[in-house]
Amino acid sequence: DDHMSFYEAVGGEATFVRLVHRFYEGVAGDPVLRAMYPEEDLGPAEERLRLFLMQYWGGPRTYSEQRGHPRLRMRHFPFTIGARERDRWLHHMRDAMDDIALPAPLDRQMWEYMVMAAHSMVNAPEAS
Ligand code: HEM
Repeated sequence: DDHMSFYEAVGGEATFVRLVHRFYEGVAGDPVLRAMYPEEDLGPAEERLRLFLMQYWGGPRTYSEQRGHPRLRMRHFPFTIGARERDRWLHHMRDAMDDIALPAPLDRQMWEYMVMAAHSMVNAPEAS
């Protein structure tokens, strides 16, 4: 119907569970990204990204109940994110989005956001 959120239109929680799980499988197998995660267990990081994306797209507000205001750029300052890290991140997100295979207009809208957000998280000049 007209009032369906983007969150509902893409299939709700089950879609975000699948998307972010697949994304973190990619991270787990990527030496560049894997080394950036301070914790041995990627499960809690997977949950934070899943809850954030669910909230961003109009789902439950659990992320902010648990973590407060997202302030994502600030939360990424402890990590050195250059073009290489950004592009690895986007590579695994594209792979995960191919897995959930959204209808083209929804895919385009989500992907545009992912590209914009990943570019905004860069906080280090490219290594020479
Ligand atoms: C946290 C890496 C982009 C959303 C993290 C963490 C790392 C990381 C190492 C810490 C793990 C944790 O404690 O959760 C990166 C890299 C990126 C990137 C290398 C490349 C550009 C993004 C983007 C988004 C995002 C584009 C959103 C669309 C999050 C969220 C958290 C997080 C929600 C958890 C924040 C919290 O509540 O503490 N990221 N990230 N990240 N990232 Fe990213």
